Amino acid sequence: MSELILGLETSCDETAAALITADGAVLSNVISSQADLHARFGGVVPEVASRRHLELVEPVVSEALVEAEATLSDVAKIGVTQGPGLVGALLVGLSYAKGLSWAAQIPLAPVDHLHGHVASLFLGDDALEPPFLCLLASGGHTLVLVVNDHAGFEVVGGTRDDAAGEAFDKGARLLGLGYPGGPALDRLARTGDPSTHTFPIARVDGLDFSFSGVKTALLYAVRELDETALAERRADLAASYELAIVDALLQRIEQAAEHTHMDTIAVVGGVAANSAFRARLATLGARVAPLPLCTDNGAMIASAARYAPNVSKAGYLAVDAYSSR
Ligand code: KG4
Ligand code: ZN
Repeated sequence: MSELILGLETSCDETAAALITADGAVLSNVISSQADLHARFGGVVPEVASRRHLELVEPVVSEALVEAEATLSDVAKIGVTQGPGLVGALLVGLSYAKGLSWAAQIPLAPVDHLHGHVASLFLGDDALEPPFLCLLASGGHTLVLVVNDHAGFEVVGGTRDDAAGEAFDKGARLLGLGYPGGPALDRLARTGDPSTHTFPIARVDGLDFSFSGVKTALLYAVRELDETALAERRADLAASYELAIVDALLQRIEQAAEHTHMDTIAVVGGVAANSAFRARLATLGARVAPLPLCTDNGAMIASAARYAPNVSKAGYLAVDAYSSR
């Protein structure tokens, strides 16, 4: 049969592998999160992440093959995240993919992680066709992208400081919600009133973002409260803080749509999993990546690999990981 694509992702704290068909149907999408392992440190510890990837990569790939009812002989291409991300973590996936490619004689396609997030929109029956305007909001990036074809994108805006996901994580930490913060803040915010506190939306030139101000404003609001008052107000603070971030993202993407004259808006990345954001995007008529494909996963890497060139054997041994673009 030999027509499936295996996608492998190890850029941060998720060890993930997936199999998709040549036309973008997801057959399996296995994600092993290391979140519990890093929780007691309050964030991802790069060396701990690398070691865990090393333990998990083989079983996760095997599981993806089993779930897809496939074997390596069905795989026509291996897509693997090359960067950006934690270099040690990336090297585990990249080295494993090179070894597998070599041993099983399967072509290798190194994939950019950000291209992977965009390519989460190219999967399934309801795949989105370029051109479209895309907001990529994750833990490491907040970018406005013009996507003219399946193979890449043009960056038209970005963050000057923190990424939106980072702002969620830092806000969650200030509110005592632990790690990973974004999903915890999302859950808590559902029980709060977003109109109780007004947090600032940064005014930045062009199509850029800034989230350091809103985080500092939350820090000051929390500092003013004693423990009892904070416990009472925590949900309201979470809801108000979330609203400020969501408003900032929505304002920018609408301005970008006007500026670029593009009518289709799409949103991808971990922050696209936020329930308040998804609800607002639905009323806007924007396309949002399916929930299981928002946070890091192997299916989006396999999807990007469909449009990424193969690197020939021997040559791919020199392919190196990169931490930033
Ligand atoms: O795309 P992703 O899995 O990894 C990166 O490429 O960075 O995004 C992870 C980020 C984290 O900052 C996480 O807190 C945030 O996405 N996130 C959320 C939610 N789920 C994940 N932020 C807000 N609400 C959520 N439900
Ligand atoms: Zn990501």
